[in-house]
Amino acid sequence: MSNKVNNSRPIGIFDSGVGGLTVLKSIKEILPNENLIYFGDTARNPYGPRSKSTIEKYSEDICNFLMSFDVKFIVIACNTASSFAIDFLQKQFPDTPIMGVIVPGVQAAIESTKNDKIGVIGTVGTIQSGAYTKRLKNINNKIVSFSQSCPLFVPVIEEAWMEHKITPMIIEEYLVDIKNSDIDTLILGCTHYPIIKKQIQDFVGNSINLVDSADTTAMSLKNELSKLNIENSEDKNSGNIRFYVSNEPERFKLTGEHLFKHEINNVQLVVW
Ligand code: DGL
Repeated sequence: MSNKVNNSRPIGIFDSGVGGLTVLKSIKEILPNENLIYFGDTARNPYGPRSKSTIEKYSEDICNFLMSFDVKFIVIACNTASSFAIDFLQKQFPDTPIMGVIVPGVQAAIESTKNDKIGVIGTVGTIQSGAYTKRLKNINNKIVSFSQSCPLFVPVIEEAWMEHKITPMIIEEYLVDIKNSDIDTLILGCTHYPIIKKQIQDFVGNSINLVDSADTTAMSLKNELSKLNIENSEDKNSGNIRFYVSNEPERFKLTGEHLFKHEINNVQLVVW
């Protein structure tokens, strides 16, 4: 009985803004009866150009906030925070399991590639940290990787400019070299990027398989919950989602619903 009550504790998920909704969507599909709390740090977005120590501090603030809901698990639905802050957060919050999106993204890319040539795109922070390239090499040292940071993608997506005429131009500018390399797999190493997946695919062509970590992260989360025996065993689809942001809840709701194709209710503002 007490176990069941314990297992209905929520899972905390965070990102710098709307990007983590791509991960939230997969988690909701794969674990429909889990209670979820999503935090988007819209006041301090974007995270991509910021230093490791700043990202650690921001992530710690958010984890402290999530801890106030007695979360049973934290998912860092942000590649930049996963690259820079996961080790730090695991030390700061040793009693709470914390998962990032890099390992699941690498897993998806390794499963996809046939020629061992993999491209990685992400924020400046993610690319400079080398988080993907190091891990790809550790798993298979024959892998050749090509990296490119795309700093304007996040602001374009936060502006909901998916259909804007400028978006294909920005994509072309960043991805022309990647397109002409011999890769067969491209990791969308930022949780915002699946939102412009179609536009990226249109530019790079169908011979390059785009992978993101949303589904593999949700599957890894399911495995971890099961290993720890903390799945919510209540009736199917019993899970609810609560949203918190650090700025402009109305705007998050509008952009989020547009991207998420789902109603987003009760977005609450958190003032630090
Ligand atoms: N969506 C995040 C990521 O995966 C953060 C992007 C940003 O805020 O720059 O890196």
